[in-house]
Amino acid sequence: MTKTASPALYFAGIGSRAAEWHRVFAEVAPELRLVDHLPPEPERAGMRYALAWKPKPGELQQLPNLQAIFGLGAGVDGILADPTLPAGVPLVRMVDPGLTQGMVEYCLWQVLYHHRRFWETEDAQSRRHWAEQYYPAPWDRSVGIMGLGEIGQAVAAHLTTFKFKLRGWSRSAKKVDGVDCFAGPESLPAFLSACDIVLCLLPLTTETRGLLNADFFAHLPMGAAIINAGRGAQVNEADLLAAMKSGRIGSATLDVFQTEPLPADHPFWQQERLFVTPHNASFTDAKAAATAIRQQILDHAAGKPLQHVVDRRRGY
Ligand SMILES: NC(=O)c1ccc[n+]([C@@H]2O[C@H](COP(=O)([O-])OP(=O)(O)OC[C@H]3O[C@@H](n4cnc5c(N)ncnc54)[C@H](OP(=O)(O)O)[C@@H]3O)[C@@H](O)[C@H]2O)c1
Repeated sequence: MTKTASPALYFAGIGSRAAEWHRVFAEVAPELRLVDHLPPEPERAGMRYALAWKPKPGELQQLPNLQAIFGLGAGVDGILADPTLPAGVPLVRMVDPGLTQGMVEYCLWQVLYHHRRFWETEDAQSRRHWAEQYYPAPWDRSVGIMGLGEIGQAVAAHLTTFKFKLRGWSRSAKKVDGVDCFAGPESLPAFLSACDIVLCLLPLTTETRGLLNADFFAHLPMGAAIINAGRGAQVNEADLLAAMKSGRIGSATLDVFQTEPLPADHPFWQQERLFVTPHNASFTDAKAAATAIRQQILDHAAGKPLQHVVDRRRGY
């Protein structure tokens, strides 16, 4: 890419790591012109590509010649939330091995945490109490994975090596080694009925918003554990608290919330056996992402198709 031929990359609501993105793009793609403020009108025509996490509604609409929007995360709900998002412009989501690996690590950590009820060990130690603890073998424990995409399938592959009984749920029918697969809303009750631990790795769409509600919890075995690393708006928070109080849900880990950061007075902070992580189950590796986006821009300019384009009708 030569400086004269290279397009500008417009940064739209790129979040708390903005300085890092600037530094890494400048290092990895020095030929790109990085623009982080809406330029005066005549210059907007030169903005062909945008990088976004949670753009201001209406912002991207003001760039008349956009050819692709690159999302900084695997989930693009923060971008699709803009009702004025230019309709014909391809939206590309992030698929990054580092991001997937971080999710695998988080899910293994949390599945084992709930499987072993590690908080009981921590509590016993805090009381200097030698408390022997027994737990089922992994082959007697069912872990249900909601979402069998890039991340869900990577997590399943690792959990298989731990010999858990695995179930998976997706929108379309799937065959995944070692996983009892279910698909579609009609199969959700059957999927949930035997899940001791449920891992939510779904994108936020109109179909998944509010999905983890009282009705959903009622289909789970008594005392099941919930781990949500999808999106906060998938959980009905009041219903989850009620389900924990009734014992229907025995323990939970949440990485994502309706409001982030989680407000200091939110009841989740105080709820027993509910563990909060601050939406950092994983994060996009800046250097790998900048390298991949640069390559996509080069390929696109050379007439090649973009990879990982979101189906806007499905919402992911
Ligand atoms: N907490 C974090 O730090 C963090 C980090 C990365 C990602 N995430 C979340 O993880 C999500 C998944 O990422 P990914 O890369 O694995 O996405 P992906 O490859 O697009 O996979 C999405 C999976 O969800 C399934 N799905 C979507 N809508 C569904 C529905 N209505 N009913 C049943 N299944 C449905 C899809 O089914 P089909 O296979 O049939 O299409 C697919 O298996 C992201 O969208 C994001 O919300 C969170």
